[in-house]
Amino acid sequence: MGKNGILHPNITMKNLTTSQVAALKKSLKELDTQRLASEFYETLFARYPQVKPMFPTDMKELGIKLMSVFELVIYSFEEKSHNQFSLQDTLIKPMQELGKQHEAKGVLPEHYSIANDLLLEILIKQNKDTFTSEVEMSWWLALQHLTVAMLSRKKDGTQAPLAERTLRDTFHSIMKKVAGK
Ligand code: HEM
Repeated sequence: MGKNGILHPNITMKNLTTSQVAALKKSLKELDTQRLASEFYETLFARYPQVKPMFPTDMKELGIKLMSVFELVIYSFEEKSHNQFSLQDTLIKPMQELGKQHEAKGVLPEHYSIANDLLLEILIKQNKDTFTSEVEMSWWLALQHLTVAMLSRKKDGTQAPLAERTLRDTFHSIMKKVAGK
């Protein structure tokens, strides 16, 4: 554990390996992003109708934006130590800003775990033939890095206690998942 980069005082984040980053890039190339986005939002609204009012009526553009962020994130993992990749520092600030925008829209920290789990579920469902456990784990780690960046706050800004708890929960579930593989 000690080897991994620390992104938050209470969280030790697991970095990605060279082969996990390669797996992600390959997976992204094979992906039908429009199909993924539309099933993602459709399922999200069916299962969690309470979040629907936050969203605009035309969801097509949002789907494209969401997928562009994933693309950006996947291509922004850089080697931080030997064969250990995490998000480029220059991406952290824009992701924090995106997170702040979400907070303003009423998105709660716990919505991120719901969205990440759902996204992974649909990725697996739509890409059964290519989704090995390595691809799954790679996506999972990438989403955790993105979420931690979006929920992180600068040292001077106070972190909502709820956000801290969610990050800690996220961390524990990463560890459970890693241990279970
Ligand atoms: C996995 C991390 C997420 C990413 C990368 C992401 C990405 C984005 C992007 C790029 C936008 C467009 C911002 C703009 O137009 O400037 C957006 C908007 C939005 N997102 Fe997310 N999002 C994430 C998680 C979530 C979650 C968990 C929710 C709530 C369930 C959510 C709800 C919204 C809403 C309500 C908007 C505003 C739509 C509008 O009014 O136009 N997002 N998101």
